[in-house]
Amino acid sequence: MLNSVFRKMTLVYLIVILISFAILGVSMIKMFENYYFEKRSEALIESGEKLNKTVIQYLNNTISYERLSVELESIERFLNAKIWVIDKSGRIYGISSVSEQEWIGKQISNEDKVRVLQGKIISKMGEYDEVFGVPVLTVGMPIYINNVVINAVFMHTPVYEIDETLHEVYKIILTSMAVALIIATLLIYYTSQRISKPLTEINSITKKIASGEFHKRLNIKSNDEIGQLSQSFNNMAKDLEKLEEMRKGFIADVSHELRSPLTLIKGYIKGLMDENLSDEKRNQYVKIIYGETERLTELINNLLDLSRMESGNYPLNIVSFDINELLRRNIIKFGNKLEEKNIDVDVDFQEDPLKVRGEMESISQVISNIIDNAIKFMNNDSEDKLMITSCIKNEKAYISIADTGLGIPNNEKENIWKRFYKGDKSRSRQIKGTGLGLSIVKEIIKNHGEDIWIESEVNKGTKFTFTLDAIKNEQ
Ligand SMILES: Nc1ncnc2c1ncn2[C@@H]1O[C@H](COP(=O)(O)OP(=O)(O)O)[C@@H](O)[C@H]1O
Ligand SMILES: [Mg+2]
Repeated sequence: MLNSVFRKMTLVYLIVILISFAILGVSMIKMFENYYFEKRSEALIESGEKLNKTVIQYLNNTISYERLSVELESIERFLNAKIWVIDKSGRIYGISSVSEQEWIGKQISNEDKVRVLQGKIISKMGEYDEVFGVPVLTVGMPIYINNVVINAVFMHTPVYEIDETLHEVYKIILTSMAVALIIATLLIYYTSQRISKPLTEINSITKKIASGEFHKRLNIKSNDEIGQLSQSFNNMAKDLEKLEEMRKGFIADVSHELRSPLTLIKGYIKGLMDENLSDEKRNQYVKIIYGETERLTELINNLLDLSRMESGNYPLNIVSFDINELLRRNIIKFGNKLEEKNIDVDVDFQEDPLKVRGEMESISQVISNIIDNAIKFMNNDSEDKLMITSCIKNEKAYISIADTGLGIPNNEKENIWKRFYKGDKSRSRQIKGTGLGLSIVKEIIKNHGEDIWIESEVNKGTKFTFTLDAIKNEQ
């Protein structure tokens, strides 16, 4: 599978390998050249020193010219180097190859001659290539008598040997490059597979989830970033699945909540159509129908509130206000109901007034929903009491609304904040409600960035407490 991750990685590796081998190759070749050059020069210089004596012997007339020529020739064979002996004017008078006698008498007139006759040893590549027709290494050495340069020798050795060595080097480099490339390609193939396979899987699962198959999960087990990604992906899929279930449940709940009052209304209207119905019954039916339409209106209003708050684009109109005043107003609002059920109200405000920051209307809704529940779930006995307190601690206002009602069993405590959740007792006792009140409360407090919690004991009562930002008294 030549996917694009593989292709890209191969390209990068290829470039890296080529560059490193090029650097390695060039430096290796340079190194070999230098090494060869040094070794050859050293050998030539060493022989040159021996040659020195022979030339001096010749100059002192101890040996003949023929003898000199023979010596030169034997050194040529030994060193594979052509030798010239020149006099002070740069004229060649001794030569190693018998076949190249025509060189004798020729004048050397370049820089090197001058430098060597000044007493320097030179060694260089290339200068005499044209003379010999092949690349040569040339070493030039002065010959001293009594510390004066009187003659010089030039030794030229062909350097095709180094070409052969370099050939070997090229071969080694190319073979190792080929091996490295093969290994790299295999490694890249393996790693790119490890990267791209899960990516392909993620891609295909994403498409499936997008088309509604929320139960699909990735099955990738590795400890690297890909493993982490698939872990997060699965978590996200799980959340999506939950959300989808909630959405479906929500629609079912709403339909159910709408259907029961509508069925009732339909039934009673049918009853009303009966001409023989007594006036008393007729009135009773109309009252029931009115009650049910009220319930429907409340339900729809609650749903609208919830969806508005959950949509997120719900800017809070934050103002500062006296929370005690708001609590009092709500108590007055529920005056009739409280009286009806004979409920006493205890109020304890630690500080009065207590200024807080928040959106007044929605905080009023929070208070109203909680008091409404408290009244609804009170036992109807003479001891019933509603206790409302407010206090301030560390720049936070704590507002508590407690009742002496039925209480909430531990296993229900988690659920009361959920949409449409109604406790068992509220169903069996036919206490009216939509099950949306506390979801709205929670949502409002969440939007304020505050907290709300309950303490409750069955048959003793329930206490709701929430926080708000308190403003220090200015006086
Ligand atoms: N003060 C309370 N005492 C006992 N149970 C309560 C109290 N407040 C809420 N609950 C429980 O929480 C559930 C959810 O409340 P809520 O969201 O206001 O819905 P509703 O009032 O429509 O039933 C109630 O049905 C009830 O079981
Ligand atoms: Mg309620």
